[in-house]
Amino acid sequence: MAPSSLSCSSLPSSQAFSPPSSILIIGSGVFGLSTALALSRRDAFSQCSITVVDRSDPSQPGTFPAPDAASTDTSRIVRADYADPAYAALGDESQRKWRMTDSPADLGGQGRYNETGLILVADVTPPAPVADLAAGEALKEPKLTGMDYVQQSWANVLSLSSKDPTLASRIRELPNRDAIRDCLGTAGSSGSWGYINNNSGWANAAASMAWLFNKAQETGRVSFVAGTVVSLVHDETAVTGAKLSDGRVLSAELVVVAAGAWTGSLVDLAGQTMATGQVMGYLDLTEAEQEKLGKMPIILNLSNGLFIIPPTNRVLKIARHASGYVNPTTLHTPPLPLSPQSAGPSISAPASLPLTHLDHPNLSIPAEGADDLRRALHEMIPWPELKDRPFTKTRLCWYSDTPTGDFLIDYHPGWRGLFVATGDSGHAFKFLPVIGEKIADCIMHNCPPEFRGKWAWRKTTGLPVATDDGTRGGTALLVLADELAKTAEAIRIPARD
Ligand SMILES: *[C@@H]1O[C@H](CO)[C@@H](O)[C@H](O)[C@H]1NC(C)=O
Ligand SMILES: *[C@@H]1O[C@H](CO)[C@@H](O)[C@H](O)[C@H]1NC(C)=O
Ligand SMILES: *[C@@H]1O[C@H](CO)[C@@H](O)[C@H](O)[C@H]1NC(C)=O
Ligand SMILES: *[C@@H]1O[C@H](CO)[C@@H](O)[C@H](O)[C@H]1NC(C)=O
Repeated sequence: MAPSSLSCSSLPSSQAFSPPSSILIIGSGVFGLSTALALSRRDAFSQCSITVVDRSDPSQPGTFPAPDAASTDTSRIVRADYADPAYAALGDESQRKWRMTDSPADLGGQGRYNETGLILVADVTPPAPVADLAAGEALKEPKLTGMDYVQQSWANVLSLSSKDPTLASRIRELPNRDAIRDCLGTAGSSGSWGYINNNSGWANAAASMAWLFNKAQETGRVSFVAGTVVSLVHDETAVTGAKLSDGRVLSAELVVVAAGAWTGSLVDLAGQTMATGQVMGYLDLTEAEQEKLGKMPIILNLSNGLFIIPPTNRVLKIARHASGYVNPTTLHTPPLPLSPQSAGPSISAPASLPLTHLDHPNLSIPAEGADDLRRALHEMIPWPELKDRPFTKTRLCWYSDTPTGDFLIDYHPGWRGLFVATGDSGHAFKFLPVIGEKIADCIMHNCPPEFRGKWAWRKTTGLPVATDDGTRGGTALLVLADELAKTAEAIRIPARD
């Protein structure tokens, strides 16, 4: 009965996989869409109907990706520069796909990928301690500082490139502030030690998502439904579909929730993930400034998470990959409980969920964040003409953060027919060309060995925990509403310096 590709002898029989007749994927971000594409290419799923539902309608220009999604705008860092060897290797695998630029049909073609190099730096001073809530947790592994992260990442990329002299020659230590300044080429500097990796670059996020959508559509195997999922539908033991805000119900034998930072509004994730809002500011440039900065390397300061990516179309983005803001939210429709037997929510605190300019058109970023972005600009590109130039746009980018920064890609332990693919932790975009295959492997009970455990559904402590993977500076668990309240003229765009 089962196609021969499934008779994989290494699988314990209890784990044998029999493909469902229908799959509903909630979310058309990197995880959801790449999974749809990967499944559509597998023999095992040739008889399975694959549907992707998302509030953004890919057939309507300008609405896909959703303008407040984590996969929107024009730039994401593509790197193998990770302190964890497993993610470094996955990043390396992914980069091979991004580097395909010859044909317009290639992922990296048409300017979707630019290998401008990445400067990774940190400061010798240890970052601020994470707030008390996290300190109360028994962290199993010692906390990495930003500097530890940069050093381990350096070792990993050197090891990955050790068999290829060309790749190896493109990585160089930057032992001090002057070396960092010379390499950056903007007269600015940052951090006190680091390295440049010219094998890293950045991708145009929205253009790459459009490419991915076209690929999925070309298969003719994926149906797309535009609609907002408000809740999961279930019987006594299994999830059977999803209900949309207009009352429609989509049914499927297997439901994959890949709703990014919004996942917690549909499924009680028991504190395993937390939506955090990260600040971004955008500045308009002149043509001459674009010309000068277009070839700068990316710079990322892991002591405070501030980074600048070379500008696109005369817009410069400054962003902060840090602890971010939380937004505790009480839901009208509670999420799916942990199991059919659960009486109520698994943790007493309301889950943090995104708040975006689609919810509040005039939402601005807190002054605390805007000030930090401005400081990074002054330090990294200290040009008088940019010093006070206002942000033309600011926004919060919502991550689905896990305590370790690992993704959460697993079957739900309490319900049949439910799989979650979330917990991006703000570093998943670069895996766009490879993550769908890995998620499909996990769906088929064949999670890559190096990510078993890391991506698993975990027993939780009952408290929200901030990400502590060595990449996050700043104060953990700042509450968005509190920070906005401290901000003069809050809920206004553009944000003030
Ligand atoms: C990285 O690329 C830049 C721009 O092409 C170049 O100036 C620099 O020397 C390169 N650095 C290394 C280590 O390859
Ligand atoms: C990098 O972070 C460290 C620690 O916060 C700081 O001392 C240094 O000035 C930072 N550089 C930038 C550009 O923010
Ligand atoms: C990226 O690089 C390509 C090829 O060099 C170039 O055509 C394109 O304009 C670049 N994109 C940006 C935004 O600089
Ligand atoms: C948003 O800002 C505009 C222009 O300043 C104003 O007219 C409008 O009332 C504001 N809307 C809300 C919901 O605050």
